[in-house]
Amino acid sequence: SKGNHRHYMLKEIYEQPIVVAQTLRSYLQRMEDQVTLPIPEFDLSTVKRVTIVACGTSYYAGMVAKYWFEQFARVPVDLDVASEFRYRQPVMEEGGLMIVISQSGETADTLAALRHAKAEGQTIAAVVNVPTSSMAREADLLLPTHAGPEIGVASTKAFTCQLAVLAALAANLARAKGKLNAAEEKAIVKHLSEAPAALNGALAYDETIADMAHLIAGARDVLYLGRGTDYPLALEGALKLKEISYIHAEGYAAGEMKHGPIALIDDAVPVIVIAPSGPLFDKTVSNMQEVQARGGKVVLISDYDGVQAAGEGCIATITMPKVHPLIAPLVYAVPVQLLAYHVAVAKGTDVDQPRNLAKSVTVE
Ligand code: F6R
Repeated sequence: SKGNHRHYMLKEIYEQPIVVAQTLRSYLQRMEDQVTLPIPEFDLSTVKRVTIVACGTSYYAGMVAKYWFEQFARVPVDLDVASEFRYRQPVMEEGGLMIVISQSGETADTLAALRHAKAEGQTIAAVVNVPTSSMAREADLLLPTHAGPEIGVASTKAFTCQLAVLAALAANLARAKGKLNAAEEKAIVKHLSEAPAALNGALAYDETIADMAHLIAGARDVLYLGRGTDYPLALEGALKLKEISYIHAEGYAAGEMKHGPIALIDDAVPVIVIAPSGPLFDKTVSNMQEVQARGGKVVLISDYDGVQAAGEGCIATITMPKVHPLIAPLVYAVPVQLLAYHVAVAKGTDVDQPRNLAKSVTVE
């Protein structure tokens, strides 16, 4: 049931602190300061290359994970949307690990990619939310998310749980590859275990975000900008907004703005900038200022320091708790989801059952 919530989507957004904690519980050994997978016998040290394949929101979780696998484990990562993977004749060498990511575990293109890679001798890991699904059954290693049933067509809690599992997998791969010492692993465990409280902190901005929905609800086009792991978040924000509010939205890597999309900027196109304070902050802010110099109306999503440093001149700001960069993608998913939700509510669209969309896409 929806409980006290008006829509399943909102209920599922609010469940995130609990289901992320639930998911992390099966991947973190707090007492030993270790990240462990629920598949102890599998030897990740032989993995030479990772291929991540998924669709939609699950693909954006994979995009975040690519940064993590390369940063922590120094293992090269290929990333494809499932509907393209087989058609580019990918090279699949020995020692390749394919990771499929899927809430339903039934998405036709992702399942077909899994089967194709398996036939080519790749080891298959499946990050799935439905443990009885086809992908869960056909994978060599099952890495479950424990988000519980997701009813709203727009994926929310499955995404943050996927990120939690993928961070754990990245840490395991890094350890297996000799790239992670005990102190670094301890730090990862610490940061990940701070995620549920930080997600709660992010949810506290629900009303603030609801109050600014009118700034976006009248727009015909919206842009989302981010850098590093905030770039996939920008793509996810745009996807969420278009699927439930039917407003045209695009996500861009902040640095790509000046290579084309900046031509779109005027005072009718709100630009949502996702920029936690940190090493990439100044670069993203300078892209944001290029937008503002052309009359663009910016909504800045950052933390207290970021909003203090760059919030002036924005039409609105959303202040997230200050978090370690590892968990920022989980935490910043919340305002992005809430913004799409409240804009859709303001427009009166059917949030849980958007037109033309199905929860599980079982045709290619
Ligand atoms: C977006 C959304 C879709 C799914 C995509 C993959 O909110 O729900 O983009 O993420 O259809 O579905 P799964 O994860 O079930 O493979």
